[in-house]
Amino acid sequence: MTAYLPPLLVIDDEPNMRSSLAGILTGEDYGVRTVESAEQGLLALGEGEYFMVITDARLQGMSGYEFLRRVRSRWPDLPVLIITAFATPKLAVEAIKAGAIDYLAKPFAPEELLHAVERCAEHYRLVRENAALRAQTEEPYRLDEIIGESEGMRELRQLIGTVAPSDATVLILGESGTGKELVAGAIHNLSRRRTRPYVRINCAAIPETLLESELFGHEKGAFTGAIRQKPGRVEEADRGTVFLDEIGDMSRSLQAKLLRFLEDGTFSRVGGVQELRVDVRLIAATNRDIITAIRQGEFREDLYHRLNVVQFRPPPLRDRQEDVVLLAEHFLRRFNVALNKSIGGLSPAARQCLRRHHWPGNVRELRNVIERAVILETSNEIQLRSLPDFELETGLRKGGVRAELGLGLEETLEQVAREMIVRVLERQQYNLAKSADELRITRHALRYRMNRLKIAPPEGTMEAADGSLARDEREA
Ligand SMILES: Nc1ncnc2c1ncn2[C@@H]1O[C@H](COP(=O)(O)OP(=O)(O)OP(=O)(O)O)[C@@H](O)[C@H]1O
Ligand SMILES: [Mg+2]
Repeated sequence: MTAYLPPLLVIDDEPNMRSSLAGILTGEDYGVRTVESAEQGLLALGEGEYFMVITDARLQGMSGYEFLRRVRSRWPDLPVLIITAFATPKLAVEAIKAGAIDYLAKPFAPEELLHAVERCAEHYRLVRENAALRAQTEEPYRLDEIIGESEGMRELRQLIGTVAPSDATVLILGESGTGKELVAGAIHNLSRRRTRPYVRINCAAIPETLLESELFGHEKGAFTGAIRQKPGRVEEADRGTVFLDEIGDMSRSLQAKLLRFLEDGTFSRVGGVQELRVDVRLIAATNRDIITAIRQGEFREDLYHRLNVVQFRPPPLRDRQEDVVLLAEHFLRRFNVALNKSIGGLSPAARQCLRRHHWPGNVRELRNVIERAVILETSNEIQLRSLPDFELETGLRKGGVRAELGLGLEETLEQVAREMIVRVLERQQYNLAKSADELRITRHALRYRMNRLKIAPPEGTMEAADGSLARDEREA
C-alpha cells in the first residue's frame, strides 16, 4: 500500500466525460468520486477530504469559474484543474488567474491529465510529510525531554531506548498525568518508523459507534451517514505507529476486532468484505486499573496478553518526590520562554511547598501549577503566594465539589462553605472560637454564616463548648 492519499473529485455534467475521466484515474489507482454539478461538488467538499478537484468549465447551473472562486475562498489550498472545450489563450490566463492550478483543453491525451494529477498528488504528500515533520520538531518527544532523575525515571528512559527500535507492541499503564503520551511519542520517534506517520487515536473521545469506523474505515452505505467510502486511520498509519490512547475505554466487541488485527495484521472496513492488511506498530495506554477491568469482564484477557508484550509504568509523581523540583524548574524554563518572562527560580518556601504536596494529578498538575505561577509572579523568584493553596484544594476535593453537580456558582460556593464549616465545627466540637480561628474569620462572621446556611449545632453542644455565643450576639 502506498502512502495514504484521499480521493479526487471530478465534476462534469456529461456522463460520458465523467466515466472516461474516472476510468483513466482509477486505472492509475486514484480514488475518484464523480458528481454532475458544481453545487454537488461544493457539498462533497464539505463532507470529506479530497486531494484535488477536476472540473469542467461549462456546467449547467453554477459555472466552473464560479465554483473555482468559491473553492478558493473556503479551501484556499485545494488544487483545482479546469477542463474546457473552448480553449483560447485568454481563457487559459483567466483560469489560472482565478486560481486554477492548471488548465486542460479538450481533447487531451490521458497522459496530460495524469501528469497534472500526479503533480497534485505529490504536492499533497509533501505538504502532509512537512506537517508531520513540523509536528515532530514542535512536539518534543525526545528522551531528554522526559525529565526525572529518580530511579524509576532512569529505568523508564533506558527501557524506551531499548524497546523503541523493535516492532514490539507496547502497553503503557499509569495514573493520569504521569506522562504516558510522552512515552508513546518517544518510542515512535526513536523507532525505525519515525519518518512514517504517528497516528494517535483517543478511544475515550470518540463515541463507541464511530470508533470502529475511525480505526478501520467504512464502505459507502455501511451505516446511515456513511455517504462515501472512508479508509481507516490504520491505513493512514501504514508502516508507521498507531497509538491507541485510553484503550481501557474500548468496547468488548471492538476489542475482539482489534485482537484479530493484532494477531495477523488483517481487518476489514465496516460494511466491507474485503480483507485488508497493513503494517503498523501498536502502542496502547490506559489510566484504568486494567486488571480490575479484566476481572469485571470489561476488558478481554486475551487482548491484554497480546498488548502486554512490553509494559511501561511511569510512576506517580508522589513516589518520586526528588523529581518534583527538577520538573518544576523544567516547566519554569519553558513557561519563561512561552510567556516572555525571566523568572530566575523557586524560593525555598515554594520548593518546600511543592515537595510536600501529593500531586494527585501528577506531572500535568505540576505543569499547570507552574504555568499559573509564572503568570502571577511579579518578583524574579516564584514565591509561595503564587502557588495554589493545596490544603484548601485537597479539602474541596474530599468535600466532593464537582462541576457536574449542575449547580450554579453561588449554590456551589454555598455548598463548599457549608461543608467546610461543618467539618471544622465537628473537629472543634462546636467550639466557636477555635472554629472561627481555624477558618480564619471572626466568630461573628461564623455565627452569621451558620445562620445563613442553616447550620444548627447539635442540641446543647454550642453552649457547653462555647459560652461566647451570647457575647457575639451582643457585639453584633
Ligand atoms: N517526565 C516528564 N518530563 C517532562 N514532562 C512530562 C513528564 N511527564 C509528563 N510530562 C508532561 O505532563 C503532561 C501530562 O503528560 P501526559 O499527557 O503524557 O500524561 P498521560 O499519562 O497521558 O495522562 P492521561 O492518562 O490523563 O492521558 C504533559 O504536558 C507532558 O508533557
Ligand atoms: Mg494521555
